[in-house]
Amino acid sequence: MLDKRRILLIISGGIAAFKSLDLIRRLRERGVIVTPVMTKAASQFVTPLSVSALAGKKVFQDLFDLTSEAEMGHIELSRSADLIVVAPASADLVAKMAAGNANSLASTILLATDTPVMIAPAMNLRMWSHAATQRNIQTLKEDGIQFVGPNEGDMACGEFGPGRMAEPLEIITAIKDHFTEKSASDLLAGKRVLVTSGPTHEPIDPVRYIANRSSGAQGGEIAKAFMALGADVIFVTGPADVQPPIGVHVIKVETALQMLEAVEKEMPCDAAVFAAAVADWRVADASSSKIKKEDGRLPDLEFSENPDILATISNRRKDRPDLVVGFAAETDNVINNASRKRLRKGCDWIVANDVSPETGIMGGPENVVTLITSQTVERWDRMSKSEVARELAMKIANVLVRA
Ligand code: C5P
Repeated sequence: MLDKRRILLIISGGIAAFKSLDLIRRLRERGVIVTPVMTKAASQFVTPLSVSALAGKKVFQDLFDLTSEAEMGHIELSRSADLIVVAPASADLVAKMAAGNANSLASTILLATDTPVMIAPAMNLRMWSHAATQRNIQTLKEDGIQFVGPNEGDMACGEFGPGRMAEPLEIITAIKDHFTEKSASDLLAGKRVLVTSGPTHEPIDPVRYIANRSSGAQGGEIAKAFMALGADVIFVTGPADVQPPIGVHVIKVETALQMLEAVEKEMPCDAAVFAAAVADWRVADASSSKIKKEDGRLPDLEFSENPDILATISNRRKDRPDLVVGFAAETDNVINNASRKRLRKGCDWIVANDVSPETGIMGGPENVVTLITSQTVERWDRMSKSEVARELAMKIANVLVRA
């Protein structure tokens, strides 16, 4: 299963670099084509000659190496593999990756790449447990970087604790798992999935609007997760704080009416997830010029009810998606309210979350959700919004694949 796979192996500085030699040997035994890259610090621990002899290939070391830029630029290098493995990943390289630095060949490759990246951190246990490293690790996890190790054990510096690089065979198992999971990447090939996201803005006049609080983070992550499963993703978004993911078909709208129009135009589709926080009302007669502020006088605003996009699509007779999923942001009685909402709107599933200000969920990186279907109520642990998205997309994929 690893035969002919192309792995770009980045070796950074650390005593664990000697294990990378064994890793290269074992990868090659399994038919992997290994392209090695070393940082300057790595060459203090193992020689480029032994790395290149084992890999059977030239070692790339320098960002400004003109011959290799002519043969293969660093951008091309970063895209020429099926997987990039960083082993060992030093505290310094981890920090550079988290900050998006590009001041060495290794960090530039890692910033320029669109290839999956797996890292095997190795460092002194105090460096590993330092708040700065832990922050960086969290950032990398959110960026989708895969991890193997570190393990706990005796360290070269004489201390005991977490920070030892994973063993070569463990790294190989993680690489195999990666390629197995990757076959999930065409699970939804040929399926169209629509996701709504962000708030809507309902104009009062050309400068003022009413809106719901929504960063668009959860919706964006859901779109990304579907894309990772190979679906064609239509992403209808209101004016969100976060940028839409790259690679999805983005339709930007402002108001609920525009969102409904865009969603209806994109039907039919196989599944639709309504993560947008749509404003319930709009100003009936928005003024085309700025309403002047006059002392003591309040504007007379009349409201109209916005169409419910989720309910409209759930109740379509023709071309209803196989699965319609809504969200329910509640502040109290979450499960009861959300279950009733599911029935009222006619959607198949509802993802309920408690958005009381003390949960920090609104605009934050994490979410605590309960998935409500006609049969079950599943409480999920607190996890990042991207993990919620991946779990949800996978569950939806399982239904679509069976449909
Ligand atoms: O009724 P409530 O706004 O709490 O319902 C939330 C769910 O309904 C979300 O999935 C949201 O995207 C969807 N919704 C909609 N159109 C509306 C209001 C809500 O699609 N006008």
